[in-house]
Amino acid sequence: MRTSLSPELNQFAADVLAGLSASPKFLSSKYFYDDEGTRLFQEIMKLPEYYLTGCEHEIFSTHAAEIYRSFANCGSEFDLIELGAGDGSKTSVLIDHFLHQTEKISYTAIDISQEALDTLTFKFSEEFPSLKVFARRGDYFRILESLKSPDKPRKIIMFLGSNIGNFSRQQSVDFFRSLRAVMDDSDVLFLGFDLQKDPRVIVPAYDDADGVTAAFNLNLLSRINRELGGNFDIDKFSHYANYRPVEGSARSYLISRERQSVQISALNRSFEFEQWEAIFMEISQKYSLKIISDLAAESGFRIKENFIDGRNFYCNSLWRPL
Ligand code: AVI
Repeated sequence: MRTSLSPELNQFAADVLAGLSASPKFLSSKYFYDDEGTRLFQEIMKLPEYYLTGCEHEIFSTHAAEIYRSFANCGSEFDLIELGAGDGSKTSVLIDHFLHQTEKISYTAIDISQEALDTLTFKFSEEFPSLKVFARRGDYFRILESLKSPDKPRKIIMFLGSNIGNFSRQQSVDFFRSLRAVMDDSDVLFLGFDLQKDPRVIVPAYDDADGVTAAFNLNLLSRINRELGGNFDIDKFSHYANYRPVEGSARSYLISRERQSVQISALNRSFEFEQWEAIFMEISQKYSLKIISDLAAESGFRIKENFIDGRNFYCNSLWRPL
């Protein structure tokens, strides 16, 4: 591996090396979100097949009053903190409603992308001139640690969009426990979980007719080409997604259409692909209400209230520390 790479690029290179040397091969979906990947994900969220965004939006619009009541239950002054805020479009539905009830709320966006934070803070300051908006770039836990204080308003920490579904079960428990460690006792978590449902609804969400999700997955190979000097021929890989109803997980793969060799200059290595060999790209876990409450208990929380859409497709779950 080249040593002149930045620490981030070095980590990316190390993870690509580990994933493509493994059997079966894998790449981490956390690397999907470069500028192009972020743009493609915004497109995915507008697709008719990708029901998750619409469900969360429906819950926020139809249950805004109950959500507010649940949040304000222990005091009407609170800071809404959104982890991985993205474009904040769903959250704005809630904020709009909350601001009609109280002026004593603030909003803090935490993201790794400065561009996303700049766009979001500009948008929110235009849309909600009376709202105090803060943007913090960097590691979620380090930032939350710095915000820990029993004297400050209660924090409602939001992790939406079923983003937790891209973690393994153990990673999810570790993530929630790490959040608990940097929360004050009166803080709460507000989480988005995509529920288990007819597999025939789930599969097209990860294999849309326009091929946007395919482009989203393939973009990681292009990113390796751009950033690590790879020579992946994108046309020689195809996207494949399935749903495993026993595990409740959607999975996506890139399949090598032919036997081929790919060179990655930053790794000073080539990788051999058999015809039809798969690279495992992403897991998108789907949940039952029982799994959500087990996860909460295992991570040191209990469910305060669940909010579910009209089709029982999606659940926003409010957790308080045990
Ligand atoms: C961000 N995450 C919750 C999305 C999901 O549904 O797993 C990422 C995604 N992958 C393909 N489409 C959307």
